[in-house]
Amino acid sequence: MAVLEVKNIRKSFGKTNVLKGVSFSLEKGQVLAIIGSSGSGKTTLLRCLNFLETPDVGEIWVDGKLLRSGSEKLSEQQVRENRLHFGLVFQNFNLFPQYNVLKNVMLAPQLLKKGTAKELEERAKQLLDQVGLSEKLDSYPYQLSGGQQQRVAIARALALSPQVLCFDEPTSALDPELTGEVLRVIRGLKNADSTMTVVTHEMEFARSVADVVMYMADGVIEEIGTPEQVFGNPQSEKTKAFLRGAHEKF
Ligand SMILES: Nc1ncnc2c1ncn2[C@@H]1O[C@H](COP(=O)(O)OP(=O)(O)OP(=O)(O)O)[C@@H](O)[C@H]1O
Ligand SMILES: [Mg+2]
Repeated sequence: MAVLEVKNIRKSFGKTNVLKGVSFSLEKGQVLAIIGSSGSGKTTLLRCLNFLETPDVGEIWVDGKLLRSGSEKLSEQQVRENRLHFGLVFQNFNLFPQYNVLKNVMLAPQLLKKGTAKELEERAKQLLDQVGLSEKLDSYPYQLSGGQQQRVAIARALALSPQVLCFDEPTSALDPELTGEVLRVIRGLKNADSTMTVVTHEMEFARSVADVVMYMADGVIEEIGTPEQVFGNPQSEKTKAFLRGAHEKF
């Protein structure tokens, strides 16, 4: 059974149709890479999945449970519960500047009373170990490099054990030499069987880590398939043009 199933999501802002009917599904442990040019609707799609945006039409299913149908009005409580299915990592880390690394990771499970203080601390330390930051538990965000901050953000997103992890260009705010360490962590999560959706401009990464590659153009899925299909043998002219451009640029 699919962990995530998205059916016919549509979203407009005023007269701008941003998502024009997006459907896909993801099996447990699969990694979906979303590629596409600026303004094609990638962030809007992730925001709809995370209930930061309300789609006009469409259904979102997680583990066989319907979280949203169309634009039905959900209570704040329902929205909060729905969000727990997804872990979100943004481009700009968005750590809490006033808390140290350990507290950044522990805060949400603490607020939701997910265990005793000792259990939560153990779990947070284990997650920080997983992203290679055992040495930085007491540091504050301003004392960390961008790559380290992003790895804290990943540990924080994992803290509530979401069914699906969503990344929105997790490396695009980083200097090139820091990109690798973040991509390595994401690669490691795949080996640990996490289900992930990653919006990325890193074509080599998408090619080597993704199980499914989705190319979005003008609010629709222009092409979707395995990396071999989409990168190796693209069918649509738009995909071909985009990949040629990406090849020249990166
Ligand atoms: N809150 C909003 N209000 C109005 N228009 C919006 C809003 N959010 C997004 N848009 C518009 O929706 C379109 C898609 O934006 P989106 O951020 O999803 O693109 P993207 O594929 O993530 O682009 P990028 O690669 O630059 O991040 C753009 O034309 C954008 O201006
Ligand atoms: Mg975006």
